[in-house]
Amino acid sequence: MTDPQPARHFASDNYAGVHPEVLDAIVAANVGHVPAYGDDPWTERLQDVVRGHLGESATAYPVLNGTGANVVALQAMLPRWGAVVCTEAAHVQNDENAAPERVGGLKLLTVPAPDGRLTPELVERQAWGFGDVHRAQPGVVSLTQSTELGTVYTPDQVRALCDQAHALGMRVHVDGARLANAAASLGLPLRALTTDCGVDVVSLGGTKNGLLLGEAVVVLDPAAVDGVGYLRKSGMQLASKMRFVSAQLVALLEGDLWLRSAAHANAMAARLRAGVDAIGTLDVTQPTEANAVFVRLPAAVAAELRRRWRFYDWDHADGTVRLMCAFDTTAQDVDDLLAALRDALARA
Ligand SMILES: Cc1ncc(COP(=O)(O)O)c(C=O)c1O
Repeated sequence: MTDPQPARHFASDNYAGVHPEVLDAIVAANVGHVPAYGDDPWTERLQDVVRGHLGESATAYPVLNGTGANVVALQAMLPRWGAVVCTEAAHVQNDENAAPERVGGLKLLTVPAPDGRLTPELVERQAWGFGDVHRAQPGVVSLTQSTELGTVYTPDQVRALCDQAHALGMRVHVDGARLANAAASLGLPLRALTTDCGVDVVSLGGTKNGLLLGEAVVVLDPAAVDGVGYLRKSGMQLASKMRFVSAQLVALLEGDLWLRSAAHANAMAARLRAGVDAIGTLDVTQPTEANAVFVRLPAAVAAELRRRWRFYDWDHADGTVRLMCAFDTTAQDVDDLLAALRDALARA
């Protein structure tokens, strides 16, 4: 535990520490006694801040992590017999140890989406069988923004999914663990990708954008949910000292910290992508629209880079790795990785 030069890796934006402004907000909230479980001034302030971003009907329910946000949100949106249409690459499908199924009791109906984005045509493949007692009832379309593959839905794309879902009597959930990266990428406010498109519920990210921990289930249409508060408690996501979660979210969202941090992470990914493109021989497998670069690396090159940096294998079969940037990734970090990549390729 004594590495004198703490490295920044490219594995995930949650490898990063806590943004200093967020730490300051935690310290500032550490005064006296206040009521527990959300009946505190920071959580009250958070409601105003979230309404400022997402509209007057928005209600924020702070939670501890993104898996919890998704499970609470989806449970609140669906009956026991409900199902969620999502992509095969969705975090809810692949990276939550089946919590939506085990804890939420929900069925996930997946479709392949090569660039991570659902389309109405893809949703159609699973949005059927309404009224058939033999089929889990598709009730929610869940999209991830920015996607697990580092791509971004435009407002028109989100609106098309919302219009389709609503016409079918379904609701729309956005896994917004990286919603800020999508908004920064498009130069749009958060509401342009959510409220204004007709999204019903958002899992609003915090941890990946510099919080110590904390996300929020944000309900945009109260008619889309039932019992969020109860489900948050029974789902073990109700923080008793909630002021410290809320204070972080307020610090992130009240000013422009959310945007500064996300835009910086995106810019570092764009720098990395430009450097990879300049090498000229590598296959980049996805557009770089947010803070991740997906590139195929020869196994020996990946192994050499791993002596210094951590990053995820995305597809073992074809050698695709994910290189992800965070709010604190520096231009020097990126340039060092690119230099090592060029060296390793020259030797390979
Ligand atoms: C798209 C997406 N949703 C949700 C999460 C939330 O995960 P956690 O439960 O680890 O906070 C993550 C984290 O990797 C994610 O990438």
